[in-house]
This record gives sequence, C-alpha cells and structure tokens, in this order.
Amino acid sequence: MFYLNVNEDMILSTFERKHATELYVLIERNREHLSKWLSFAVYTNNIEDTIAFIDKSQKRYIDNNGFWAGIWYKQQLVGAIGYLYIDWKANKTEIGYWLAEEFQGKGCITIATQQLLNYAFKTLKLNKVEINVAKKNVKSLQIPKRLGFVEEGVIRDYEYLQGRYHDRIVHGLLRKEWENQK
Ligand SMILES: CC(C)(COP(=O)(O)OP(=O)(O)OC[C@H]1O[C@@H](n2cnc3c(N)ncnc32)[C@H](O)[C@@H]1OP(=O)(O)O)[C@@H](O)C(=O)NCCC(=O)NCCS
Repeated sequence: MFYLNVNEDMILSTFERKHATELYVLIERNREHLSKWLSFAVYTNNIEDTIAFIDKSQKRYIDNNGFWAGIWYKQQLVGAIGYLYIDWKANKTEIGYWLAEEFQGKGCITIATQQLLNYAFKTLKLNKVEINVAKKNVKSLQIPKRLGFVEEGVIRDYEYLQGRYHDRIVHGLLRKEWENQK
C-alpha cells in the first residue's frame, strides 16, 4: 500500500474497496468535467465499474506495475493520481491525474505530482517520468510545465474523445533534470 501524509491538508493513499462509494460519487458528480479529457468517466456508470477499477489498480500495485492513489484534501476525497504503468526495462513511468472541478486552483495536483516524482526517482529509482496531455487541455498542460518537464513532441490524433480526435503532447522529466532542480 502507498500512503503519504503530504502536509497538514493532504493525504495520498492507494485506493481500496472501502473507498468505492466515495470515489464513485465523486466521479458521478464530476462526470461532465472529467469526460472532456478522460474516457474513463464516460465508461464508469455504476459502483461495480469503480470496484473493478480499484481491483485492477491493486493488482497493478502487487505486480509492481503502477497504482492509483486517492487525493484527500482536508479529509475529503478530491481526485486521483497514479502511475499508469512502470516499464522496468527502460526504467520509466507515466503519471496521470484528475481533480474534482471545485477543488481546482489550490495546487493539489501540482503538489501530488511532486510527491509522485520524488517517489519515482528516490524510491523506485526510475530514470524517466512522462506526463502526456491533450494539446487543448490548457489547465493540464500547466502541470508538467510548472514542474520543469521538457516538451518532447506531439502524437497526432492520439485519442478520440467527445466526437473528435485529439493530438497529445508528450512531456518528459529525466532523473538528472529532477536532481538539478534541487
Ligand atoms: C488538469 C487538472 C488536474 C488541473 O487542475 P488544477 O487545479 O489547475 O491544478 P493544480 O491542482 O496543480 O492547481 C494549480 C492552480 O492552483 C494554483 N495554486 C495555488 N496554490 C498552489 C500551490 N501551492 N502550488 C501550485 N499551484 C498552486 C496555481 O496558480 C494554479 O492556478 P491557475 O490555474 O489559476 O494558474 C484539472 O483541471 C482536471 O482534473 N481536469 C479534468 C481532468 C483532466 O484533464 N485530467 C488530466 C488529463 S492529462
């Protein structure tokens, strides 16, 4: 289990089945907000879907292949962040995240991403972390930018969301770049 007391306001903790209702209710409340950029929100239609997601995330953790953690802000679940996979041959991973609409603008994702960067480089000893964002997702593009990631290129028509194709911008941060930030 991954559990981190980040500061007096924020806790990161891997999802367990006991969180299913809280998580499903949050997704349900933010379905429109999340569906603009994330297809999981479109396909999460009942609590069973959320339980299946949590079980998959736990298996991913056991298999040493990433995990999803909830972000609790002032004791309330406000979003999620995780490693989508871990490539142990190339020693790299990709971070994904989302936040409930009303909790945007407080730095929750920037702070949580910083924690997952520390964990990736210090504890997991990885060499590279990617954050990949749809070209028009202006808010999300600010996260890798704010954290010193290098923009590496564009994958054209990477995904189909809301009736159209979206280009995706790949951002990467290498261990040596992260070390130089300190
Ligand atoms: C993408 C998303 C997570 C960004 O949320 P966000 O609230 O803008 O990001 P953060 O939590 O890091 O907050 C940053 C904002 O808080 C402000 N802030 C306040 N305190 C801060 C702090 N201590 N550290 C950093 N930023 C802080 C920043 O100035 C910034 O505000 P601004 O947007 O007005 O410039 C959110 O919009 C979202 O979930 N969208 C839908 C799903 C999605 O797109 N997921 C990503 C797919 S790639």
